[in-house]
Amino acid sequence: MTTIRTFEDYQQVYRNSVEDPESFWAAVAEDFQWHRKWDTVLEWDFHKPEVKWFSGGQLNITENCLDRHLATRGDQTAIIWESNDPAEESRYITYREAYHEVCRVANMLKANGVEKGDRVCIYMPMIPETAYAMLACARIGAVHSVVFAGFSSGSLIDRINDAGCKVVMTTDGSYRGDKVIQLKSIVDEALEKCPTVERVLVARRTGTRVNMKPGRDAWWDDELKTVSSECPATVVDSEDLLFILYTSGSTGKPKGMVHTCGGYMVYTNYTFRTVFQYQEGQVYWCTADVGWITGHSYIVYGPLSAGAITLMFEGVPSWPDMGRFWHVAEKHRVNIFYTAPTAIRSLEKAPLSYVKQYDLHSIKVLGTVGEPINEEAWHWYHEHIGRGQCPVVDTWWQTETGGFMISPIANITKLKPAFATLPLPGVQPAVMDENGKELMTNNIEGRLAIKFPWPSMARTIYGDHQRFKDTYFSTFKGKYFTGDGCRRDKEGYYRITGRVDDIIIVSGHNLGTAEIESAIDEHSAVCESAVVGYPHDIKGQGVYAYVICYDKPHEEENLRKEIREMVAKIIGPIAKPDKIQFVSGLPKTRSGKIMRRILRKVAEGDTGNLGDVTTLLDPAVVDEIKAGAL
Ligand code: PRX
Repeated sequence: MTTIRTFEDYQQVYRNSVEDPESFWAAVAEDFQWHRKWDTVLEWDFHKPEVKWFSGGQLNITENCLDRHLATRGDQTAIIWESNDPAEESRYITYREAYHEVCRVANMLKANGVEKGDRVCIYMPMIPETAYAMLACARIGAVHSVVFAGFSSGSLIDRINDAGCKVVMTTDGSYRGDKVIQLKSIVDEALEKCPTVERVLVARRTGTRVNMKPGRDAWWDDELKTVSSECPATVVDSEDLLFILYTSGSTGKPKGMVHTCGGYMVYTNYTFRTVFQYQEGQVYWCTADVGWITGHSYIVYGPLSAGAITLMFEGVPSWPDMGRFWHVAEKHRVNIFYTAPTAIRSLEKAPLSYVKQYDLHSIKVLGTVGEPINEEAWHWYHEHIGRGQCPVVDTWWQTETGGFMISPIANITKLKPAFATLPLPGVQPAVMDENGKELMTNNIEGRLAIKFPWPSMARTIYGDHQRFKDTYFSTFKGKYFTGDGCRRDKEGYYRITGRVDDIIIVSGHNLGTAEIESAIDEHSAVCESAVVGYPHDIKGQGVYAYVICYDKPHEEENLRKEIREMVAKIIGPIAKPDKIQFVSGLPKTRSGKIMRRILRKVAEGDTGNLGDVTTLLDPAVVDEIKAGAL
């Protein structure tokens, strides 16, 4: 038994999944099309670490997302696309159309020299072509690396080079509210420093004038004219790479998390159906961008493999006004709505009339992801969007986990505001104390680890297995360390309390403080910087930068502006510091380590008790920092 319809089912299924994980996942995996059945369900060793699911199995994920639906729901909508511009017509793409589009794009990739195992960078906005691009790569066994189209050329360079991408897929431009972003020119700038890229395929979206480099760049629509709309799927092994997706690390460059085909397919499909309790024909809308893991797993692969209707929205919640989400939800009679706490908090600040003017009765299930949701936002969402009647599934998971890990199951798990509640089948959490001991009782708080593999976990960091081991498997021997803190209450419900490392989550986006610091340090006036997060009403966390300059700045405001622009240019606008405090020194220990605890407290406005500062090289610097706090 793998299907869950009652809480008793959940308890039974969960028990089975822990007592005999292999039989459990084999039963789930039966529901897919395989070219060859697996030899072993699971091989693993968390010390190496090495994890293989459905080894020996052969498949193609796109046959499970597209081909197998043709007979049963070929004419049903697969993707509803809603433009940035409310006046532009929506698109309704059936499974059959999506199938042919994906085949065409796959043939275009082949014609441009892409082969199994090649890496393809996708730097595109929220349009159906982006989903086709991902699936087309998967169709021919190529590995996609989607880079969020809000990132700047610096971030693009790092990601393209790290993965050694051969082809870049992009658009002329993209729309974001009332702005047009020149995506192609960002790509052009990046490619000056990306020697591995041979071809750039450009889809038209905004009609923006672009430069096309002869021999390298080609228009997507021209290329499609000559290709067939059938493309046999390349059969790949379960453990072949499906995609690389970059996420920030607490130190150094972003990490290219590697996901593989078989386990990822099985897990994202199962968790999608289970958590949302998706019913045939329902309209499901996840507002994330495909550039993040949420878009990969729960806009594209999970819903399509489940034969769902998935809505893709190109725009932003605040344009043309703060009612846009609710307008779209009403227009397409959305049944399941899945968004981020940061969006909820910003929409909650707008007058309620933006919600009230729309009929949201179609909504049956609500979800959140990306960061801890505060109780106030949870209640607002539940009451005003869910009419007090819809469950809110607070899904805790990560780029690294590939799919939901701890989450309520809609209408089945008892809800507790701000709690991700209970582990899903196959997920075995462990709460660890600071000495690395697992806390076995309830009503405790500690660090969250996972002690058994699940099918969609990342297998490695692309090109750096040692870093994978050091980051995730060295803190607690034999366990996967999540980087999050959590509480387990009396009833065994989990509440995620936030990151315990140097990663901050700004509007649901993971940012490494080291990454922002190195961008700030690029400014010629800056000698050193330290970045911490602080509580922010809407973004969840804001970026607070302490900056030491070579010379005392004359025009502080100007310099702040330049530093912000520098960060936007190197990483992207999402990483711009909200506050920049110029300081003459940083609180460092005698060994030169910055005591971020102190910086965090000051940034939080809590300067009363900074704890022990006696180990600092120069305790006086703390008084200066306190005095200048913003
Ligand atoms: O700190 C947790 C937070 O987001 C981190 C993962 O970020 P990322 O890899 O970008 O993936 C986001 C989308 C899955 C986690 O380590 N996080 C994610 N979901 C929740 C959460 N924190 C609390 N509650 C959640 N539901």
